[in-house]
Amino acid sequence: MRARLERDFERFRRALPRDFPDHVRQTYRIALTARYLGLTLPHPIGKGAGQLSLDERQLAEDARAGLAFTVLKTVIAEDAAGTQTMAAWASPETRMRVERRLAADGRSGWTVTWKGRGWHRSLAAYLALVRAGRDLTRAGALLVVPSVKYHLPRLAEAFREDEYRHTTAQLAAAWRDPPLLLEKDFSPTLAGDPLAADRDQILRWLREVPGRIRAAAPCATRLAVKLMNARFDDAFQIAMTAACPDADALVCFNRLFDPEQGVAYGGWDLSERNLRVLDGVPPTRRGLCGTGDIGSGRMILAYARRGCESVQLHTFFQLPLSEYPATHGSRPERALHALVFHPRDGLVAGVLDLEADGTLERRDGELHFLDLATRAHQPR
Ligand SMILES: Cc1cc2nc3c(=O)[nH]c(=O)nc-3n(C[C@H](O)[C@H](O)[C@H](O)COP(=O)(O)O)c2cc1C
Repeated sequence: MRARLERDFERFRRALPRDFPDHVRQTYRIALTARYLGLTLPHPIGKGAGQLSLDERQLAEDARAGLAFTVLKTVIAEDAAGTQTMAAWASPETRMRVERRLAADGRSGWTVTWKGRGWHRSLAAYLALVRAGRDLTRAGALLVVPSVKYHLPRLAEAFREDEYRHTTAQLAAAWRDPPLLLEKDFSPTLAGDPLAADRDQILRWLREVPGRIRAAAPCATRLAVKLMNARFDDAFQIAMTAACPDADALVCFNRLFDPEQGVAYGGWDLSERNLRVLDGVPPTRRGLCGTGDIGSGRMILAYARRGCESVQLHTFFQLPLSEYPATHGSRPERALHALVFHPRDGLVAGVLDLEADGTLERRDGELHFLDLATRAHQPR
């Protein structure tokens, strides 16, 4: 199998097989089947919201590459008159820099440095993108999920329900057939904002926002809450995961915030913090989706072993072409090639290692990616 993997890695440098999860199943007897928002996916690798999911061309490229899902750039909620209480997050794009970042322990990783925030074009333009995503989803080509930042009040203030209602109704109309799938973003720039300096205020948002969204939605809604890394200790981060038990999925956890540079960042510090916190999340918490510094199959498995049923990447889809071992194809396609087939650090190699050390066992002759999350959910 190892020799076969070396050969596959070499020959797929030019192009992946059309249905690579099926190839992995037939060749290695590994089921990469994964889950996000309660939906079954052919494999666990999706794209997190950001500048790589802003238009239809990017979605078509993701579908062609074979990503399991793509989360659209985060739109800022508004009321019927177009008022956005969170307008500070609808700022225009600035130049992005993909660069190395040294972690506290000296390891060199990748980060994207950027001072932009959410979607800054009109809600109408966003809805057109949602409709394109809906069509890809219906066609079975790519699961596409919109992302929203809704109004977050200070403790003494009320929620702007008109913004919740108007934006959710517009998204539901664009999506058409229920359930509406939605990710709610609590972003790193929010973590860096004075709004998020108060623990009780953050916990109130997490407790109340899922209910507000559901109450505002005109149809059944499956909701993922993407948690920021708050500027507090690990115990508080774990408390955040416990504060929204009725979210269908928790995306753990968005980038760290560097108060000196005033920017969000990733790299090894991010994966280290996220994995450490996930170690402390009670096994009863289902529906976890990992994000943060994922650049290898081994890192996907590290998140899976802590209960994540799928992952969403961003930075790894933005690296210089010279960083991918593939010689042809779009960045998502080259990324998948490395993530799945790398003979040492890929998903297939990592799953075979877990079989060899007794962590995973075959059922009916197959190894199952989702068994890792299931094991993590068993009482410790
Ligand atoms: C330039 C940039 C823009 C991003 N914009 C969003 C966003 O609009 N909404 C969101 O939920 N996450 C956003 N993210 C976070 C990513 O989706 C991802 O969760 C995070 O970067 C951690 O994964 P990574 O280390 O693979 O990049 C953004 C990240 C970057 C680098």
